[in-house]
Amino acid sequence: MSATIIDGKAFAATVRAQVAEHVALLKADHGLTPGLAVVLVGEDPASEVYVRSKGKQTTEVGMNSYEHKLPADTSEADLLALIFQLNADPAVNGILVQLPLPDHLDSDLVINAIDPAKDVDGFHISNVGLLGTGQKSMVPCTPLGCLMMLRAQLGSLSGLNAVVVGRSNIVGKPMAQLLLGDSCTVTIAHSRTKDLAEVCRGADILVAAVGRPEMIPGDWIKPGATVIDVGINRIERDGKKTLVGDVAFASAAAVAGAITPVPGGVGPMTIACLLANTLTATCRANGLAEPQGLTA
Ligand code: GUN
Repeated sequence: MSATIIDGKAFAATVRAQVAEHVALLKADHGLTPGLAVVLVGEDPASEVYVRSKGKQTTEVGMNSYEHKLPADTSEADLLALIFQLNADPAVNGILVQLPLPDHLDSDLVINAIDPAKDVDGFHISNVGLLGTGQKSMVPCTPLGCLMMLRAQLGSLSGLNAVVVGRSNIVGKPMAQLLLGDSCTVTIAHSRTKDLAEVCRGADILVAAVGRPEMIPGDWIKPGATVIDVGINRIERDGKKTLVGDVAFASAAAVAGAITPVPGGVGPMTIACLLANTLTATCRANGLAEPQGLTA
């Protein structure tokens, strides 16, 4: 194995420590405690685990955590009423509605009801538009975490060929916008891309976010490339349940210059960046300087 393994767990701990330090200053100097509200509708077990983890990490960095668990049959009107209440609450600086929502709720409508200044997921149409036009916005957490790791690994990304495999609104599209913002030459590839292998082989930076276990083998990777694997796929191997990414790790690590593992790569960065975004939202709402190195 030749690649440097990018330790997302350690990186995320560093980000959380930076957030905690800034939160302590906000409290001491301005009497402000950032607050993050998380809304969970229904009882999806994976979402429940994730929401619990968010709550724990939020309080660990010194922020207030507000959890709103609503039954699966909550009406759209009731959910919107809660969001309007959180929009108006000065103690709440960030609002996150856990996705996916139950089928009877219109996710776009719900997300677009959040005050864009409190939209710490960066999913509101205003933030999507601001990011797409290079203006100050809230940036989706997972792509922000990937960008931080890429900058730490490579320094300037200017002029590099970046290939993003996956075109989701949560990862692929905002990731491409962020890479473009850092002056990469960006290709968005996806399941219909012709000769995906050849497209990937041109990548100095390869971001895999397709949700297909080990779809990208080592011989699709340019020697020395930086590989960011966003996939978290639960599979069964040799009778055991295991987590794998969208990249075939062993063969990829033999070719790449640097690679994120699964687990322990991108995953831990998502919540760390959610906390960073909550801090950023708090600073902006109060006309204070933003934390350095924690935004795009
Ligand atoms: N479900 C899976 N990932 C995410 C995320 O980043 N934000 C929200 N709100 N829901 C998710």
